[in-house]
Amino acid sequence: MFNRFFWSAVLSALPLLLFARSGGAPIRRTGAAIDGGQDCSACHRTSAANSDSRGFVRINAVNYTPGQRQTIRVQVFHPEASRWGFQLTARLASNENNKAGTLTPNSLVQVNCDPSGNAPCGNDREFATHLAPATTQGASGLATFSVEWTAPAEGSGDVVLYAAGNAADNGGSNAGDRIYTTSLRLSPAPALSRPTVSSDGAIAVGAFGGGRTISPGSWIEIFGTSLSNITREWATWDFTGSNAPRSLEGVSVTVGGRDAFIRYVSPGQVNAQVPDGIGSGSVNVVVTNAAGASSNIQMTAAPRSPGLLAFPASGARQLAVALLPDGAFVARTGEIATSPSRPARPGETITLYLIGGGATTPPTPAGSVAAGTPTVPNPQVRFGEAPATVSYAGLAPGAVGLYQFNVVVPNVAPGDTRLSLSIDGTATPQTLTTVIGN
Ligand code: HEC
Repeated sequence: MFNRFFWSAVLSALPLLLFARSGGAPIRRTGAAIDGGQDCSACHRTSAANSDSRGFVRINAVNYTPGQRQTIRVQVFHPEASRWGFQLTARLASNENNKAGTLTPNSLVQVNCDPSGNAPCGNDREFATHLAPATTQGASGLATFSVEWTAPAEGSGDVVLYAAGNAADNGGSNAGDRIYTTSLRLSPAPALSRPTVSSDGAIAVGAFGGGRTISPGSWIEIFGTSLSNITREWATWDFTGSNAPRSLEGVSVTVGGRDAFIRYVSPGQVNAQVPDGIGSGSVNVVVTNAAGASSNIQMTAAPRSPGLLAFPASGARQLAVALLPDGAFVARTGEIATSPSRPARPGETITLYLIGGGATTPPTPAGSVAAGTPTVPNPQVRFGEAPATVSYAGLAPGAVGLYQFNVVVPNVAPGDTRLSLSIDGTATPQTLTTVIGN
C-alpha cells in the first residue's frame, strides 16, 4: 500500500517530465476537501495557498439551465505575477464524489479524468487545467481561463465548482509562485416564463434622477417579473472590441424597435442603454427572453435628457454627487457616512457625473466605450444664480454613456447652494444642492 506521503514524494520528483510533455497541473489540486484538500502549493510551496492577500482566484459562472452549455471563467490575479495556471472541477452538491455536468477541452484547456486518462471521462470526475500556451508567459494583470461546461440534467440539484489558481513568477520553477483556491455553488435556474412589466415599468436610472424621458446613449432601469432567470452584470468578455452586448443570458431589450445594450439582468430588473436612432416623442420599450416578449412600456424620446448623479434625497434636500480633486465628496464635512466629504471652495474644480447628455463632437455611438474627449455643446452650470466656468463637458473616457463635467466653483457665499446644469438649452429636471465653504 502507498500512503499519500509516498505518492506526493513520487509526484514531486516527476513534474519536470510531466510538464515538459503537456503543461497543466496534476489532478485533485483544487483544494476541495472531498479530494483530500490538496492544492497547487503541494509543489508550488513557497507559501501556503491564499496567504498573499494581494492576489485572488475567482470563478465566474451563473446558475445553470439543465443540459445547457455555459462558459465558466476562472480568473487569477496578482500584481507581480507574469505566468498563470489553474484547475477547475465541478461536483454535485448532493454527493461531491460525483462529477456534475461535463467539462470540454479546447486549444488552451485540457480535461483530465480521475483516476486517469483524458476527456471524454464518462462518469469519472473531471479536472480542467491550463495547457502550456494558456499560461501566457510574461503577461501581467488578470489571467482569464475559459472552460465550456455542459450543465447536468434536470433534477441534479446544486453544483459546487472548485478552482485553484497559480499566479506564478515566471521563474520556470515551482518556487516563488502564489497559489489561490476558491469555490462557487450554482443552483439550477428556475424555468423561464414570459417577462411581465407594467406600462410604466421603466425609468431613467434612479440615481440620475429617474424620469421617463430618454435619449440615445442614456440609461434606463426596467422593472418587472420573470425578466431573466439569471442575475448578472456585463463583463469584459461580453464586449466585442469596444462594443457593448445587445443581450445577456438571452435577455434583450428594444427601444423604438431598435436593440438596446444590456448591462444588468435579474428576475426583477434589467438595466439597458438606449440605442441611437430612436427619434423623438413616444417610444415603446420591450424586454424579450427565451420564453417571449413583454408588453410595451411607453417612454418619451428626446435628443438630450440630462440627469445628474445624486445622493438619495434626505427630505427636500438632495445633494449632487460632486468629487473634489483630493477625492472627497462635496458635502458638509463628515456628512457622507462612508467617505470623506467637505464643502467646495470657490476656485476649486469639482467633477459632476450625468447620463443622457446626448450627441457629442466627435460622435460616439451608443453601446461603445468612449475614447478621447467627445464633448457636448453649450454646457452651462450655475451655483445659485452664478454661472460657473466649465472646463470639460463630455463623455467620461473609458465609460459607456457616462458624462462628466469639470466645473470651477464660482465666487458664491458659503453654505448650501442650488446646483443646476443644462446642455444646449436642455436642463436637468432635478432640484439639487451642493455645499460651498470658504
Ligand atoms: C506535483 C507537483 C506540482 C503540482 C501539484 C503543481 N505543479 Fe505547477 N509546476 C510544477 C513544477 C515542477 C513546475 C516547473 C516546471 C515547469 O515549468 O514545467 C510547475 C510549473 C507551473 C507553471 C509554470 C510557472 C512557472 O513559473 O514556471 C504553472 C502556471 C503551474 N505550474 C500551475 C500549477 C497549478 C495551477 C497547480 C495547481 C492546480 C499546479 N501547478 C500544481 C509542479 C507542480
